[in-house]
Amino acid sequence: MTLDQQVAAHYTRDDLEAAVLGALQAAGKDLDRLTLDDLAPIDEFHVRGREATMELGERLGLSSELHVLDVGSGVGGPSRRLADTFGCRITGIDLTPDFCRVATMLAARVGLDGKVAYRHGNALAMPFEDEGFYAAYTQHVAMNIEDKAGLYAEVARVLKRGASFGIYDLLQGEGGEPAFPVPWARTPATSFLVSAEQMRLLLEDAGFEIVSTRDTTEEGTAWFLGMQRAAAKRSPLGAQVLLGSDFEAMVRNQVCNLLEKRIAPKELICRKR
Ligand SMILES: C[S@@+](CC[C@H](N)C(=O)[O-])C[C@H]1O[C@@H](n2cnc3c(N)ncnc32)[C@H](O)[C@@H]1O
Repeated sequence: MTLDQQVAAHYTRDDLEAAVLGALQAAGKDLDRLTLDDLAPIDEFHVRGREATMELGERLGLSSELHVLDVGSGVGGPSRRLADTFGCRITGIDLTPDFCRVATMLAARVGLDGKVAYRHGNALAMPFEDEGFYAAYTQHVAMNIEDKAGLYAEVARVLKRGASFGIYDLLQGEGGEPAFPVPWARTPATSFLVSAEQMRLLLEDAGFEIVSTRDTTEEGTAWFLGMQRAAAKRSPLGAQVLLGSDFEAMVRNQVCNLLEKRIAPKELICRKR
């Protein structure tokens, strides 16, 4: 298997669409009247979910006239939330075909299919023209990408000059390698974390100026501790639907990884020079 296939296999599970709809129904949601809030526990696939997405959208200064790129759009929660809040049009690209299909299905169910669209593809070779987007963001994706220089060069290629680029990712902390499994990888074979300093150099080399950096370790740790406490009475609607049976082990490891500073959640706002 290639690296891309291993990453997509990590995120693929049998009949994801039925699993997502089944979890929504089990949690008492009306499938004919789904709202963005109904979906939020399952479609925001990163630490601190919707809250972190909203913070990123506000810092990026999104507005209705912009066409925005979501790099590694997952099942589409962030793009639907930001398109609905800020009125912008968002195109997502993702390596996992099932995620693109479910993202498209959920967008239609909440009536946002005119605002968001999802393409299956690799962030390292995106099927988009040069300088076509006014802004871009990526959340919890680069941890799966070894060629980060290639990733940021490709994002720079598709952005207009002066465009904003928001990153919300888990970086390598000072405490050593993370314990596996984690939500983005079951083994170190598909996990590629870089330090904050390496990240700065990668972004500057790709032609970005870093406007701000924010560490959200404290908030992320509180969020995972809350998730760990909820284990005994977990709602059927949650990231376990996407991640399967080792989800509880992933939560426990993330609590340790954060407390021991093995991972560092950071938000960076950049501008293409
Ligand atoms: C943890 S999920 C985050 C999804 C989404 N950004 C969110 O926050 O809800 C990571 C996503 O990155 C995607 N991904 C990983 N490597 C990728 C690549 N090379 N190109 C495009 N997508 C990739 C995966 O398929 C997966 O959907």
